[in-house]
Amino acid sequence: MEPGALRSREWTGNPSPRYWWHRLPGMDFVPAVYSDLSADEWAIVREWYAATDLSCSIGEAAVPLLSTLHGFILGSHAARIVQLGTHAGYSTLLLGFALRRMNAQRGLFTLDIDTTMCSVARSWVQRAGLGNFVNVAHGNSVDPASVNAAWEYLGGTPELIILDSSHEYGATLIELDLWFEALAPGGLMVIHDVSKFAQTFDVTGQGGVRRAFDEWRVANRGAETFLLNGETRSMDLPRPLYKDACGLGLIHKPGA
Ligand SMILES: C[S@@+](CC[C@H](N)C(=O)[O-])C[C@H]1O[C@@H](n2cnc3c(N)ncnc32)[C@H](O)[C@@H]1O
Repeated sequence: MEPGALRSREWTGNPSPRYWWHRLPGMDFVPAVYSDLSADEWAIVREWYAATDLSCSIGEAAVPLLSTLHGFILGSHAARIVQLGTHAGYSTLLLGFALRRMNAQRGLFTLDIDTTMCSVARSWVQRAGLGNFVNVAHGNSVDPASVNAAWEYLGGTPELIILDSSHEYGATLIELDLWFEALAPGGLMVIHDVSKFAQTFDVTGQGGVRRAFDEWRVANRGAETFLLNGETRSMDLPRPLYKDACGLGLIHKPGA
């Protein structure tokens, strides 16, 4: 068998916490977000996992969120995407591969406040040959200047905004206001870590993304909002249909 031929099935028995999805009952198959990749693209993802396992740079989203995004992007040709929170570049690579599949150049503006993480992610973008599709920017997601930088790179109003940054209640409230305003009518915000379980990620201890999402949706009744797997308090089984215990919030901006 060729190296890597099993693709993500090689992780089915991997006990590390980051491979949790691959250990769930019934998940011994290769999800579309990986099976859709060319052999060279899959080799990059595999190398990325090996390198970040070694450096312990673990903080990426997992298969349920990336599969949801993959469906929106390829199914609806989302070609102006903002991501708040790049980390080591996992979602950046997978979103970049989807954009390259559609030949949607300058399609992803991804932001991080951490210069080291920006450098790491940029090196992977370069290795993957995604320089025409992705810009890894250094900046703060609560700064209005970041909205202008995104607009300039994308050449228009973002139609898909992914929020996966500090997980802090106060900063998330600011992000929701700032980036909902920046979103195109008919566009979608996808918010990671909205569950009760993920409230523990808020280092300020003020209730995390979930509290911000709950308050924001009460104050913005004109927006259509939805919360998936929001009540989960642990990684234990059983899980609802949407398997990520971190939960997923959706905000749709009406108008188009
Ligand atoms: C959970 S990780 C992002 C994971 C990434 N979306 C993925 O799936 O590969 C969160 C990242 O947000 C960054 N971050 C935190 N606060 C931020 C802010 N105010 N502005 C921009 N980035 C921020 C952190 O430095 C960290 O790298």
